[in-house]
Amino acid sequence: MSFRIQPAAPARPNRCQLFGPGSRPAIFEKMAASSADVINLDLEDSVAPSDKDSARANVIEAIGSVDWGNKYISVRINGLDTPYWYRDVVDLLEQADERLDQIMIPKVGCAEDIYAVDALVTAIEAAKGRKKKISFEVIIESAAGIAHAEEIAAASPRLQAMSLGAADFAASMGMQTTGIGGTQENYYMQVGENRHWSDPWHWAQAKIVAACRTHGVLPVDGPFGDFSDDDGFIAQARRSATLGMVGKWAIHPKQIALANDVFTPSEEAVAEAREILAAMEDAKAKGEGATVYKGRLVDIASIKQAEVIVAQAELITAS
Ligand code: COA
Ligand code: MG
Repeated sequence: MSFRIQPAAPARPNRCQLFGPGSRPAIFEKMAASSADVINLDLEDSVAPSDKDSARANVIEAIGSVDWGNKYISVRINGLDTPYWYRDVVDLLEQADERLDQIMIPKVGCAEDIYAVDALVTAIEAAKGRKKKISFEVIIESAAGIAHAEEIAAASPRLQAMSLGAADFAASMGMQTTGIGGTQENYYMQVGENRHWSDPWHWAQAKIVAACRTHGVLPVDGPFGDFSDDDGFIAQARRSATLGMVGKWAIHPKQIALANDVFTPSEEAVAEAREILAAMEDAKAKGEGATVYKGRLVDIASIKQAEVIVAQAELITAS
């Protein structure tokens, strides 16, 4: 065990991040009225090049004028390989209301990408006397991004969340799929007559979770493109939650309730976690480090596992 204590991730619910194009201001009020924990107003790939300036202006206006309640407000800027990103940062930081919480940086490839945005944001915050320090989230969606996930997770104290962006990631990796997340038809094992589908996103997700947990960042699963497939979304989200991710994007409002449901620990799971904690209290009182709960071993590590579930439930109840 390292003597370094694993830092806690930010204590705010991040079960669902609802996206909406900045070029579609008619949906901003609907986004604000939704039950998503995080709002991602998009200036990047859901906005056509001819709409970049107007989308930026729409978003800046809406941050101050729409009642966002207690939602966490994030704006996805354009990638550092485009001519748009610096204007996104400058205009947002100079003009947007203090209600703005976060900037999402897409397609990050190395720690220096975060450093560049951090330098610009820090200078504008100081020049403008902004009181709230803007936080960052990043999308890992390239071969370089996943290769450097750990240094990216450590790149700035502003960094709060890291998502896997399945579509751009698949393209960058040269994966043979046009699906955005979920089961891929050709990724299977053949056992006798039977096919067993496996999960092509698993390695990237696990790598992101490890990078995030090492540096106190929230690991998040990105988009699931087929918004007509509720069962597929739920299965993907459950796999992500099992691996340690705290939430998932919604690219259509019907996915919000599905994500909230999966990433809110069930009453049964919380009750069982509390029972495990109680069983371990009893064991401790008897001077034992391990005991039996419902016919299975629980020990000191089980306390930490149960505490993850109880802490997540308490965070959501308190929000
Ligand atoms: N947030 C809030 N409300 C939304 C919404 C969103 N992202 N997308 C659609 N709605 C609203 C619609 O306005 C409509 O409202 P109404 O019932 O009052 O008319 C309702 O939800 C149903 O919408 P629907 O007709 O099924 O979808 P659509 O054709 O209007 O839009 C998408 C579908 C996918 C184009 C749209 O959901 C969207 O732009 N999603 C986000 C895309 C994005 O940001 N991508 C970047 C990240 S990958
Ligand atoms: Mg992308």
